[in-house]
Amino acid sequence: MNKIRRIAVFASGFGSNLQAIIDNIKNNNINAEIGLVLSNNKDAYALKRAEKNGIKKVVLNYRDHDKRENYDKKIAKILIDQKIDLIVLAGYMLLVSGWFVKKFKNKIMNIHPSLLPSFKGTNAIEDAFNYGIKITGVTVHFVDKELDHGPIILQEAIPILKSDNIETLEEKIHKIEHKLYPLAVKYYCEGKLKIKGRKVIII
Ligand code: GRF
Repeated sequence: MNKIRRIAVFASGFGSNLQAIIDNIKNNNINAEIGLVLSNNKDAYALKRAEKNGIKKVVLNYRDHDKRENYDKKIAKILIDQKIDLIVLAGYMLLVSGWFVKKFKNKIMNIHPSLLPSFKGTNAIEDAFNYGIKITGVTVHFVDKELDHGPIILQEAIPILKSDNIETLEEKIHKIEHKLYPLAVKYYCEGKLKIKGRKVIII
């Protein structure tokens, strides 16, 4: 049995992906514990979810710091103090800096609601829908210093049907996200992810 991994989840909003990970840990599907939930937004519903589940909350507003460097260093110190093994970005609306990515190399994951490298950025579901593509999906990837770019861990495709609108598509995407992200976290915690250049090999 692998040792229990300690996870930090960074979330700025609703936190449904955080919830999916909490549920999977509770069901013993992931051998991990969430050491903390960090948010840059004090009103994030994700913080309520942390509270309800007895998870430590950290709110750090980027704007309260004179320099990005100081903000990142403060977060890094908390993560090290809390012995965090994996950082899970789940709707975290702030770019992590190059310094931070280097410090926690291959230990930061993100979920993105499109089939990367298509439709990067904050409006991916709508952008994909409006572009008229027939297939979109979900990507879980490691984070590197470029936006929505690091090595891809898992992807799942979703057809966009004639009957779909943005709301129905969003619903389908979130449903897949809540399955895919816990699976990627589970693989990480079981030591099953090996990174070779841009490729992630699941062993
Ligand atoms: C998800 O769609 C995720 O792909 C994107 O942000 C959204 C977060 O949703 N990065 P939630 O806060 O986990 O409900």
